[in-house]
Amino acid sequence: MINWNDNFSVNNTEIDDQHKELISIIEEVVLVVHTKDYNFIKITEIVAKLEEYIKVHLEYEENLMVKYSYPFLEFHVKDHNELRYRTQNIKVFDVNKLDEFYTDTLIYLVDWLTRHIMQVDKQLGEFLLEIDVKQCKDKE
Ligand SMILES: [Fe+2]
Repeated sequence: MINWNDNFSVNNTEIDDQHKELISIIEEVVLVVHTKDYNFIKITEIVAKLEEYIKVHLEYEENLMVKYSYPFLEFHVKDHNELRYRTQNIKVFDVNKLDEFYTDTLIYLVDWLTRHIMQVDKQLGEFLLEIDVKQCKDKE
């Protein structure tokens, strides 16, 4: 459904690694849904993991943006908030509508992540790269 490839790179190792982790957790959920492996404990665990990692990752980027006074912070956070809003009840699901719910949620997540990385995070990556270059130059 979604696989990491170099086109997703935002030229920041930590953010790239977090995106890889996020994609791998999404893939775990996809696998559970596709194999109809609806073990309640298993699916609850993995969805909790996904929810927690989304939170951790978005906060990591936002802390970086604040730290370095990123000029497009407001726009970027607004996009994060869209995902937060859409996934806020991710753990509350109807067991009878699991397939439908997760198909919708997963399609949204994959679409959001792909678009967000390609358009919004890449812009942040460029900025961070410039800052690093400037900082290196300052040290010289
Ligand atoms: Fe982001």
